[in-house]
Amino acid sequence: MIDLQLTDKTHDEERQGEALVIDAPEVRNGRKLYIESYGCQMNFADSEIVASILKDQGFETTGDYHEADVVFINTCSIRENAEQRVRNRLSQFGAEKRRNPKLVVGVLGCMAERLKSKFLEEEKLVDMVVGPDAYRDLPQLINQVEDGHKAINVLLSREETYADISPVRLNGNGITAFISIMRGCDNMCSFCVVPFTRGRERSRDPHSILAEAQDLFDKGYKEVTLLGQNVDSYKWKGPDAEENAEIEVNFAQLLEKVALISSDLRIRFSTSHPKDITDEVLYAIAKYDNICNYIHLPVQSGSSRVLELMNRTYTREWYINRIDAIRRIIPGCAISSDIIAGFCTETEEEHQETLTMMDYVGYDFAFTFSYSERPGTLAARKLEDDVPEEVKKRRLAEILLKQQETSLFRLQQFVGKTVRILVEGTSKKSDKDLCGRNDQNAMVVFPATTGVKAGQYVNVHIDRCTSATLLGTIAVEVPEIV
Ligand code: 5AD
Ligand code: SF4
Repeated sequence: MIDLQLTDKTHDEERQGEALVIDAPEVRNGRKLYIESYGCQMNFADSEIVASILKDQGFETTGDYHEADVVFINTCSIRENAEQRVRNRLSQFGAEKRRNPKLVVGVLGCMAERLKSKFLEEEKLVDMVVGPDAYRDLPQLINQVEDGHKAINVLLSREETYADISPVRLNGNGITAFISIMRGCDNMCSFCVVPFTRGRERSRDPHSILAEAQDLFDKGYKEVTLLGQNVDSYKWKGPDAEENAEIEVNFAQLLEKVALISSDLRIRFSTSHPKDITDEVLYAIAKYDNICNYIHLPVQSGSSRVLELMNRTYTREWYINRIDAIRRIIPGCAISSDIIAGFCTETEEEHQETLTMMDYVGYDFAFTFSYSERPGTLAARKLEDDVPEEVKKRRLAEILLKQQETSLFRLQQFVGKTVRILVEGTSKKSDKDLCGRNDQNAMVVFPATTGVKAGQYVNVHIDRCTSATLLGTIAVEVPEIV
């Protein structure tokens, strides 16, 4: 069982094997769905779409796959070890299928898209393979399997955004939720499989985004995270709400519109791209107190030569310019990153440039990876994966160590101060403690106090910290840092 929203993990980190359960559907068909998700926040958001589609068909969800009629595994392809984890899990589902041959086993998401029909050949116990743009077809595909056929739909779409599907919030805390604002990616970073598995970039109708955010707020939610592979390139053109005129909405404008729903609704977003993040976006963040001062701006490498090979389309200098703009326009803004160690042909000096970039920015947090060649990507076709495994490992360890020190330093800046947090629920470690995040996305844990409950904003005095968490007590004084 999981708490989807109690995570600071972004699209970059592979989350693993979390089963998702929804409320009972209005009309039941007496059948049960078990769905397990891996990978990025986007995948978890997609599982909420899938659950919604099947809920309309009368499926109830279960957290125990032994009692399921349909088992879905929503997969991630970003690195090889992510795929390996899925295969291991599939062999467990295979054992269940041998016990219960009527069980329908479906593979969804990026691995389904990447391997297509090969999946059905390689994994004999899989019945269905369904790509990320084909979820509307799931009821029909399940019927096909029940009629004794294997089923596959891996068609990618240039239009599908599932805009009209109201996601069911799976195992949520009722306080924070994801809203998918776009799908796909047009960037073609040379290491990345995502453009192949999730297709072309398309932006979702802002009216449906605003309606979803308003609906969440009306239901008591206090924080939404707008999700996209590259939110800064969000762009939508179409009729306004009254259908009187054509409007164009960019990401800064979308942020503002969502922020105006209520000053009590916090807005987060992920992921930003250094080449596309504009000052207009930064000014929107600075203007509205409820748009959180936190930007996930993956650098990947600190070397301009490596960045060029990665096809990131910016240089070290450009990235530094964006960091300087953030520091100037939004003082105190937290910044996090994704960093890849040991990309093709990376030299020791270039690795050092990544470390000095980390020094320059002083990231609050970073997701760090060792380069993993993905079949079909530009890098796999054109570049040699020539950094030896042990060198990648050592460079990654150096990056990790630096990040741990920097994260601790960043959190220490809050000690002795009072911060405003949104209470998300009881702490994972002790039900005597509550937890929530401050504006900068740092997790804060403090002893539960009578009358304080999830969904409230409270001021917490920070007494101490670990490298990942701030520890404090409810404060009466007003926050110094909001
Ligand atoms: N190897 C290692 N890390 C990768 N990422 C994407 N593709 C790869 C790969 N082939 C990382 C990047 C990206 C995040 C989603 O995952 O840092 O920002
Ligand atoms: Fe992959 Fe680059 Fe698109 Fe991110 S921006 S999903 S790393 S291609």
